[in-house]
Amino acid sequence: MNPNTSTPRVAVVGAGSFGSLHIGALSRLHGCELVALCEPNERVAAGLAEKYGIPRTYTALDQLLETEELDAVFLTIPEHLHVGFATKVINRGIDCFIEKPLALTAAEGQQLIDLAAEKQVILQVGHILRFEAQHAILYDSVVNGALGEVMTIRAKRNAPSAMWETSGKSAHIAMANLVHDVDQILWMSAGQRAVSIRAYERNFTGHEFPDCVVATIEMSGGTLAMVEASWSVPSGAPANIVSDQWRGRFDASLEVVGTTGTGHVQVYESGLEIWGEDASSAPNSALWPEIHGAIGGALRDELANFLDRISGRSAAEIVSLPDAVHGLEILEAIVESARTGTEVRL
Ligand SMILES: NC(=O)c1ccc[n+]([C@@H]2O[C@H](COP(=O)([O-])OP(=O)(O)OC[C@H]3O[C@@H](n4cnc5c(N)ncnc54)[C@H](O)[C@@H]3O)[C@@H](O)[C@H]2O)c1
Repeated sequence: MNPNTSTPRVAVVGAGSFGSLHIGALSRLHGCELVALCEPNERVAAGLAEKYGIPRTYTALDQLLETEELDAVFLTIPEHLHVGFATKVINRGIDCFIEKPLALTAAEGQQLIDLAAEKQVILQVGHILRFEAQHAILYDSVVNGALGEVMTIRAKRNAPSAMWETSGKSAHIAMANLVHDVDQILWMSAGQRAVSIRAYERNFTGHEFPDCVVATIEMSGGTLAMVEASWSVPSGAPANIVSDQWRGRFDASLEVVGTTGTGHVQVYESGLEIWGEDASSAPNSALWPEIHGAIGGALRDELANFLDRISGRSAAEIVSLPDAVHGLEILEAIVESARTGTEVRL
């Protein structure tokens, strides 16, 4: 970012389900000035600009980059656009926050990291769980040695079956749903790398991609990790992701078993339940809750960390780009192992 700028001028690109949450968080963060948003749906863009007082809207990235003097861009666009859009932003010397996944392949992710280093810009990827309080406290317990040596890590992510139509058609279930869990395994195993992977997939519902996957991952320091995911949670389950755009229940957990202790996180559970005549919900209040008209929680803290980094207020690099690339290698290996029925060694 331009060192003469005291408050970074930022823009959000892609104002869909998650982009609108970024906007809701950034609009109240004092560490930036949200000067523009870019979204092809002009009606959506105009509505958000009015709601949050954003001065200008654009429908195309090139137009945004040519017109505005920006210090940072937040990319909240569909996954297949990540690399192309980030390349344009970074090439202009603009710091870039990119939603997960960093890229669709490890090779493309590494190219982005290399480009960011060459252009000396800060690049950060949206591995939000590193900013969620329960995960962060568990991580501290692991690195402080409270659990001893990490023997096993198990992550589960069963997603609402109803979300298959919107989210399940574009990618293998491992790629679509396990990026956060694999990043947690890399974080909690503190520097270890995957050496061998064996995965299994099934397609019970006859969709284009498998609807469930299970994988075991052998880590370089001896830790054994397990991940499982499915599109399976019925619509009748009390929703724990509740917003204008989404309503459904994620059944997800993380367990770290060490030689002297064990840690458990129920990822989306908050203790809050709201019971109605026709439906009940248990809204998650840690990740991106709307509180008094602004988005808070882990999403706000994650964006604040990026703003602190680009403004030189903090150097804390909580999300690891090498982990993001290795995470993509692991996901690619899970897909390959499940497809071929063989072990993949990295
Ligand atoms: N960290 C998390 O927990 C989390 C959760 C949900 C989504 N995400 C990520 O956020 C990103 C966006 O997901 P979403 O669910 O909001 O998707 P979405 O489809 O709801 O929104 C994408 C938006 O991008 C816009 N867009 C499409 N093409 C564009 C272009 N050429 N220029 C500008 N905007 C364009 C679309 O019009 C849409 O408004 C994805 O990378 C997704 O993986 C992260």
